[in-house]
Amino acid sequence: MKICFKLNGQAVKVDVDPLQPLLHTLRERLGMTSAKQGCGEGECGSCSIIMDNQLVNTCLIPTIQAKGTALVTLEGLRDTPKGLCVIDALLEAKGVQCGFCSPAMVLALYHLLDNRVCASITPTDKQIREALAGNLCRCTGYAMIVEAGKIAARKGEGLW
Ligand code: FES
Ligand code: FES
Repeated sequence: MKICFKLNGQAVKVDVDPLQPLLHTLRERLGMTSAKQGCGEGECGSCSIIMDNQLVNTCLIPTIQAKGTALVTLEGLRDTPKGLCVIDALLEAKGVQCGFCSPAMVLALYHLLDNRVCASITPTDKQIREALAGNLCRCTGYAMIVEAGKIAARKGEGLW
């Protein structure tokens, strides 16, 4: 079945099994390998992308559900001013972790910062931790990532 959606600002049409997980379609058909297969059960968040401005787990979403939506992956975000702001903040806070969890952490921080009611207020630790709640990492703590969220909020003033 042919399914159309917008991916990182470009219209795409893929001919796939409509029930195939969106993660598989993104990775295997469209080369968006920043989304990772971790648990495959909606628990770890490593397959996160932004769909119509919601952070979603693509391992659980059949591709048909993406029909007519606008999707953003790290490939689309990483060269934008806001994406770069979050990535630079993660580097500054030494919050870059492994390749499995980092792409989704960037998307989660970006999503939080971009959807604040008031861009001039730095989110609290609690708000940042809540925004990261769907992204599991059992290797290290989240302190540096939380710090990165605050740095990106501060340094991105005027951007958000
Ligand atoms: S792979 Fe999708 S939530 Fe873990
Ligand atoms: S899962 Fe990436 S550092 Fe723990």
